[in-house]
Amino acid sequence: MRKPMMAGNWKMNKTWAESVVLAQQISNRSREYWDDQVDVVICPAMVNIKAVNSVFEFDKTPASVGAQNCHWEPKGAFTGEASIPMIREAGASWCIVGHSERREYFAETDETVNRKVAALLEGGVAPIVCVGESLAVREAGDYLEFVTSQVRADFAGIEDNQAKTCVVAYEPIWAIGTGRTALPEQAQEVCAAIRACLADRYGSEISDEMRVLYGGSMKPANVEGLMTQKDIDGGLVGGAALEAESFVELIAACI
Ligand code: 13P
Repeated sequence: MRKPMMAGNWKMNKTWAESVVLAQQISNRSREYWDDQVDVVICPAMVNIKAVNSVFEFDKTPASVGAQNCHWEPKGAFTGEASIPMIREAGASWCIVGHSERREYFAETDETVNRKVAALLEGGVAPIVCVGESLAVREAGDYLEFVTSQVRADFAGIEDNQAKTCVVAYEPIWAIGTGRTALPEQAQEVCAAIRACLADRYGSEISDEMRVLYGGSMKPANVEGLMTQKDIDGGLVGGAALEAESFVELIAACI
């Protein structure tokens, strides 16, 4: 059985003080809502990783912290970037890679995503690899081929034993921040295709262990329909992760 995961991507929201408050609010509710039945991951802005991690460490909260991006080189002249050793030392045990916002606004490609995945695995930080199609691709009808080709490219050269630690997040771009969620059947269709693609590559024993998340306007009102789908193992959540109340409800729906 795969352990469900609920990951909050705070994107470029919450100052340092706001991050500490929200982390504390989430932590305060943890005893009531979950312990180790679900992997809870919070991905704040880079500068707030340490602060959020300190709250969780101090409270012994069953939650871990992730970054939203990293560079694949361990150090060097890359102004504005943060390396994997840096995010790891700040407290990140996970890192989102290939989010559609980074692909769209920061020229992230499958090639750079692949480099980051390899470097993260090497550096002991687990990747959450994001894939997903635009509305144009969906309407053209070849979204399964599009998404699975992203998976193949993002995992190029990644060995079996390393792939197991990765999580894949299916985030249809047309559903992100739009309030328009994919129907549970639409999300399941793509998540199943992602798992089949991983099975092709790594065999079903490994693909059955790997978690595939859904992301895109996930909220308490639609989480149950999504979580009952066979190939959806949790969520990568933006808007609804910015309030403790809605986020813990999403966590509760995983149990
Ligand atoms: P929303 O939940 O705000 O649609 O964002 C989803 C997302 O992009 C998470 O990475």
